[in-house]
Amino acid sequence: MQYEFVLTEVHDHVGLVRINRPKQLNALNPKTMDELTDACLAFDADPDIGCIVVTGTERAFAAGADIKQMMDASVVNMLDNPFIDYWDRLRRVKKPIIAAVSGYCLGGGNELAMACDMIVASESAVFGQPEINLGVIPGAGGTQRLTRAVGKAIAMEMVLNDRRLTAQEAYQWGLVNRVAPVDSYLDQAIQLGNEIAARAPVAVRLGKEAINHAFESDLAGGISHERRLFYMLFATEDQKEGMRAFAEKRKAEWSGK
Ligand code: CAA
Repeated sequence: MQYEFVLTEVHDHVGLVRINRPKQLNALNPKTMDELTDACLAFDADPDIGCIVVTGTERAFAAGADIKQMMDASVVNMLDNPFIDYWDRLRRVKKPIIAAVSGYCLGGGNELAMACDMIVASESAVFGQPEINLGVIPGAGGTQRLTRAVGKAIAMEMVLNDRRLTAQEAYQWGLVNRVAPVDSYLDQAIQLGNEIAARAPVAVRLGKEAINHAFESDLAGGISHERRLFYMLFATEDQKEGMRAFAEKRKAEWSGK
């Protein structure tokens, strides 16, 4: 499979998808998300693959949705643009997906990791939802999945005040499965993937489906509500100011409008 922003490899029965926009800290633009989800769906259809691992680089799993690409968007642009729907597209994948996370795992990057089924983190991983700094809230499932994963109290701090979790904190709060050294987190994720790939395939598939059902009942309603709120924020001056300030490398000045 040849893509512009993702690389794919096969490790025994694991399909590995690497996000490959290192200069932008793997910021997720529409093409990257299109290719990433396409690669996952292709591995899902491959009978030799039993499990999928999604990873980034040592410095960044992904630093969020591409801010520069959406900074001037209107509410209508956001409603018309299928960009954030790519996160939902991952839910079509029936085989387990493990996120192997190192470095920055922020905003849409954290939402991508949480849309996977398990997370193996390196000791350097940092998990956060910093959208509040841009005058918006998470828009790709973050408020819903984070709350289910770490509970209301920590989710509130992360979404309202940009609290970031170290890998160890994320482990303690149940966001990640295990923490590994930076030089072995990816190997550990691939090994876990191959162990799962060696198990009864139909039971693995149905086990994933059943757990996600427990985890996600009424998730669709929550996500749809969140999306409307996220798009609505593109009618505010604070969203324009927050995103422009990021691109211009200055501190945002909030007007509350
Ligand atoms: N979108 C677009 N570009 C990004 C980006 C993003 N999310 N994150 C980083 N980049 C770019 C930077 O603009 C920079 O590009 P230039 O060299 O062209 O200036 C390059 O990646 C390297 O980044 P920094 O120079 O900022 O690196 P740093 O080490 O000083 O800081 C960081 C790293 C703390 C992760 C910082 O880049 C940062 O705060 N990034 C934004 C994080 C963020 O706010 N994410 C949420 C995005 S909104 C979202 O995801 C909405 C949603 O829910 C769907």
